[in-house]
Amino acid sequence: MTVNTLAIIGTGIMGMGIAQIAAQAGIQVLLFDAKDGAAEQGRQSLEATLKKLTAKGKFTDEQLDSILANLTVINDLPLIAEADLVIEAIVENLDIKQQLFSQLESIVAADTILATNTSSLSVTAIASDCDCPERVAGFHFFNPVPLMKIVEVIPGISTQSSVVEVLMDLAERMGHLGVVAKDTPGFIVNHGGRAYGTEALKILGEGVTNFEEVDRILRDGAGFRMGPFELLDLTGIDVSHPVMESIYNQFYHEPRYRPHPLTRQMLVGKKLGRKVGEGFYKYKDGQKSTTGLSQRAFYETSMPDAPITSVWIGADLAEDKKQLVDYLTSNNITIDKNDQPKPDSLVLLAMYGEDTTNAAIRYQVDPKQAVAIDMITDLSKHRTLMPSMVTQDKFVQQAYALFAKSSEAVTDATVKATLIAESTGFVAQRVLAMVINLGCDIAAQGIASPEDIDNAVKLGLGYPYGPISWGDQIGAERVLLILERIYALTGDPRYRPSSWLQRRAKLGISLFTQQTNC
Ligand code: NAI
Repeated sequence: MTVNTLAIIGTGIMGMGIAQIAAQAGIQVLLFDAKDGAAEQGRQSLEATLKKLTAKGKFTDEQLDSILANLTVINDLPLIAEADLVIEAIVENLDIKQQLFSQLESIVAADTILATNTSSLSVTAIASDCDCPERVAGFHFFNPVPLMKIVEVIPGISTQSSVVEVLMDLAERMGHLGVVAKDTPGFIVNHGGRAYGTEALKILGEGVTNFEEVDRILRDGAGFRMGPFELLDLTGIDVSHPVMESIYNQFYHEPRYRPHPLTRQMLVGKKLGRKVGEGFYKYKDGQKSTTGLSQRAFYETSMPDAPITSVWIGADLAEDKKQLVDYLTSNNITIDKNDQPKPDSLVLLAMYGEDTTNAAIRYQVDPKQAVAIDMITDLSKHRTLMPSMVTQDKFVQQAYALFAKSSEAVTDATVKATLIAESTGFVAQRVLAMVINLGCDIAAQGIASPEDIDNAVKLGLGYPYGPISWGDQIGAERVLLILERIYALTGDPRYRPSSWLQRRAKLGISLFTQQTNC
């Protein structure tokens, strides 16, 4: 079946976004809203948007006319009878959606497909009061719909495969990538997004560093477009915290999704983020204000000069050791090549998934000389340094001088080094390993194919890479090492590596690999 006429029920932000891309794709769109005048209001504001886009050259006048001609406001629900597909984008309430779906069934033809744009409710539950749940599916778009070129297609427990095919085809006609997801909490995108914020909150809660530095490490060092705390402020704690709790509860307290008490406290304390002028950051006239003196600027002015005698390197990976040797040699620093470091050498530990104390013990060096460095981030963009609890000040100063001051002149806006408190697994290592592990676990749960998981998370969350390709890029073995060590040291099942990751890391094959021989 090809969709020629589409009815949208609920002409709010999402309904009108879907209406726009459908009308642009040449589909007849019927607009209905329960609130008097809302559908006409939605149509008028879409018309204004389309006129602006035409003025900018996105459409010709003829195209504009035909897109507008594809939009029809209807004031009586029975007028949806001629639609091939109905997409519901009303209030996120199960009872109300169930009632609407029963009502829709009494109006439309037997072969009309009924879709829901729900982001957090079960598609199976929405269809459960229907006489024909076979024709009901999730069709989950992201805001703003015209820019977020991804849509999750979610069959419920009874949905026919032909319904999925029609929706996948329609997604493509509207210029969106359709990805098929099992009807599970958060589907792909809102499930795959559980690692970033929760791990960053855990890091903050452990006092590893402040929220600005966590944002900086993940933005500058790891390549995320926004830091997790900037993102929480933008989305709003009143939206994000309930989603974290809901997914955690729906998966019966799976520790990987565990929310953090801090955002609950912020919720009750009404520090909801950007929209109220304060969340993690403070906002004035929509602009984020920082706390003033950055950590880097503080150290630039307060760290005494630290003459460096020599540097002894302990690295888990040969490639990291080479990179550090090249860096130090190019800065005319003497490398201590003895088996055991000389007492006046700075001991630099490039390790994964550990704290500095445990790494120093493993390398049989004195923790008082040791500073660890995170090699998972690009050294030319950001450096994270972690002294042990007992590292002598002079060695902390030397490490800082080596990786912050002696690098090319850095302005305050492009901070390149962060000193963090001793903790297990740095900041970027923890967050990246958790994002990748979660993507792998979504694949292990058979919620979607690894390709769909990768594309959906990348497009839906704006990450620089999808979690599966990111894992391949960093190396599955390295990700596994981080998780195994953190899990062993903390005993927290949150960090247990997914079987999907473990097996592929041990076989040395891509994380995209699916078993095809049985
Ligand atoms: P909205 O509040 O902007 O619009 C909802 C519209 O539905 C309103 O115009 C309202 O008058 C109308 N409505 C409410 N009950 C109705 C009923 N029984 N019959 C007909 N119309 C009714 O909401 P929004 O943000 O567009 O969300 C709609 C749906 O899309 C929800 O299920 C939401 O969870 C989901 N969603 C929202 C996203 C977002 O970022 N806003 C992203 C993805 C999904």
